[in-house]
Amino acid sequence: MDRSLSAARAATMLGVYTSPAYRGIAEGFRRLIADGRIPVGSRLPSERDLTAALGVSRTTVTRAYSLLVELAYAEARQGSGTVAALPAARGHRGDHLLAPVDGTGAALDLTCAAPTAPAGIAAAYEAAVAELPSYLPGTGYYPSGLPALREALARRYTERGLATTPDQVVITAGALAGVAVAARALVSTGDRVLMESPTYPNAIATLQRTGARLAGVDIDPSGCDVDSVIAALRQVGPRAAYLIPDFHNPTGALLSAEDRARLAAGLRAARTAAIVDESLVDLVLDDVTVPAPFASFAPDTITVGSASKPFWGGLRIGWLRVPEARQAAVFASRLSLDLGAPVLEQLVLLQLLSHADELLAVRRDGLRLARNTLADALHRMLPQWRVPVPAGGLCLWVELPEPMSSSLTAVAERHDVLLASGPSFAPEGGLERYLRLPFTLPPDQLVEAVSRLRTAWEETLTTTASRPRTRTLVA
Ligand SMILES: Cc1ncc(COP(=O)(O)O)c(C=O)c1O
Repeated sequence: MDRSLSAARAATMLGVYTSPAYRGIAEGFRRLIADGRIPVGSRLPSERDLTAALGVSRTTVTRAYSLLVELAYAEARQGSGTVAALPAARGHRGDHLLAPVDGTGAALDLTCAAPTAPAGIAAAYEAAVAELPSYLPGTGYYPSGLPALREALARRYTERGLATTPDQVVITAGALAGVAVAARALVSTGDRVLMESPTYPNAIATLQRTGARLAGVDIDPSGCDVDSVIAALRQVGPRAAYLIPDFHNPTGALLSAEDRARLAAGLRAARTAAIVDESLVDLVLDDVTVPAPFASFAPDTITVGSASKPFWGGLRIGWLRVPEARQAAVFASRLSLDLGAPVLEQLVLLQLLSHADELLAVRRDGLRLARNTLADALHRMLPQWRVPVPAGGLCLWVELPEPMSSSLTAVAERHDVLLASGPSFAPEGGLERYLRLPFTLPPDQLVEAVSRLRTAWEETLTTTASRPRTRTLVA
């Protein structure tokens, strides 16, 4: 994609700017870049063209660009002029690696969207240990997974409307490992891979490590922006696309059956294989119907599943459902990464699946209460924030009135609240106007977190407004 911004377009996007003009123009560009409306890496108009388009003096534009470079929202590159950039700031995970903390500190951790273990998990472990002896005479290596677990998972897909045989299921050490296996099977260095922006940060990092060239499609905050994805498929013609149609992380959006069918047609036309992450599919919190799995619309899809969100991340069990034509490639990819998932945890998951309905009902009740508590606290204490409430998943994707997600993240840490800022969720930068807030802590801690966030937000606004516009603007 051509990433040059014309002077006419820049002038339209800037609109009215404040005085003095050089500062107003720099601030206008800063917001557009921070919001992702000017993607990182875009070439800004030449000084001469912008001078003509804005009807200001050349010195004004030169000073505006110098300030933008000083703020680290642009780089002056030899031969390419001024190029949009983002500052490296604390709390802005440019590496897209959200690392869960161990949960023993005083800080309230809102970086990790993962629930605690369900009651009854200890009994499931005990039952699994009782079954273990029959597996001990074997080597314990099951590169595709325990046959009984593959059967149980195939049955669940079939019940959801997607006929599946146990041969199509490969057990992995969690969904993220499943994404890595699928990506290696589909993608080679230099291939284009499409991702929604925002999307799950660690999947961005996983796909980056394949050597793929990532193309992020800006989806609107509702998350159900199939038109943008279809347009990008047509334009980019990517080898693969990583998508989260079921309670998208972070927006929580659920794609309708009609949109699934349209997206599947777009993938087919672009000859793009989908990696569809269904990690959150079981976390339906409102009275909505979850459509049939995406692979029943697009059969060339590798589907990723996880036990982490419905049950517990400590199991470290996920799986892939693989179309027949891709089984050999996926199996080879799997063996190049590891040789199988732990036997005991696979047996535990089998136990949990045998009474999944009761466990999930409890999980959903707890999450619903936490979601509503968090949304209410935000409405009360931070009424300027826009807080859409999704029908499922684990997070709120909150829109801030100012593009200051990274600054807020840094300030909030001083108040013992750990956040993942919007840019962590952007494959190609931007999203400073957004913040993901998981509702996986207990309700009283969520209320306390919002109270601390209110203080942090007020501090962020005052510090940013009163400070000279220097590199520390987004600390
Ligand atoms: C969409 C998505 N995929 C994958 C994962 C990781 O799951 P697992 O613990 O199974 O590796 C997460 C965790 O937050 C997630 O939200």
